[in-house]
Amino acid sequence: MTEPSPKRRVAVLISGRGSNMAALITAAQAREFPAEIALVLSNRPDAKGLGLARDAGLATAVVDHTGFGKDRAAFERSLQAELDARRIEIVCLAGFMRLLTPAFVARWEGQMLNIHPALLPAFKGLDTHARALAAGVKIHGATVHFVVPEMDSGPVIAQGALGVRDDDTAETLARRVLAIEHRIFPLALRLVAEGRVRLADGRCRIDGARDSDAMLLVPAADG
Ligand code: GRF
Repeated sequence: MTEPSPKRRVAVLISGRGSNMAALITAAQAREFPAEIALVLSNRPDAKGLGLARDAGLATAVVDHTGFGKDRAAFERSLQAELDARRIEIVCLAGFMRLLTPAFVARWEGQMLNIHPALLPAFKGLDTHARALAAGVKIHGATVHFVVPEMDSGPVIAQGALGVRDDDTAETLARRVLAIEHRIFPLALRLVAEGRVRLADGRCRIDGARDSDAMLLVPAADG
């Protein structure tokens, strides 16, 4: 019998609720999933997601950014020490609300993923759902991408989209987009952990991906 290949060791970095983290934890519980959550790390000691991670029996750590003042390099040295201590290979930013320095980002190039609640490159930054509504877009969604020094930029690994409804509010959109986030983050992590994501010319090519040329037309109307 052949040995199963070892799972890639993943850290999930959070600052709050942790629902994307929970989706990654659930996905990683499957026997055949190619990655394991070896660490959940928060920059906030009161992050709700930390409790969920502990309840799931996972290793957790807190590197409280407030203790470092403006010294981002020192904060990141502590982050890196926690990642090294757990022999982390892939980092998932799941609602991690700290900007990272170019040096830290370079250290994790091609190995650090972020989830953003919009179809990048549209609506970088905060309040994406209210801004999508204000702009009147008909299609909205979420993106998982590799992290580069510029915020909410970097090669796209996976996206999911939905149609915006006339009666949507920022809250109803957020709820439906979050359900998409919970599907595409585990998908993207799986692809990266399996080594199926190739970076070329700043774009991700996915080995063995089926073409998804189904059209999403919004509004779907007769005639
Ligand atoms: C998500 O909407 C994510 O896209 C954004 O921050 C939010 C975090 O939510 N970056 P949760 O902590 O994963 O529930």
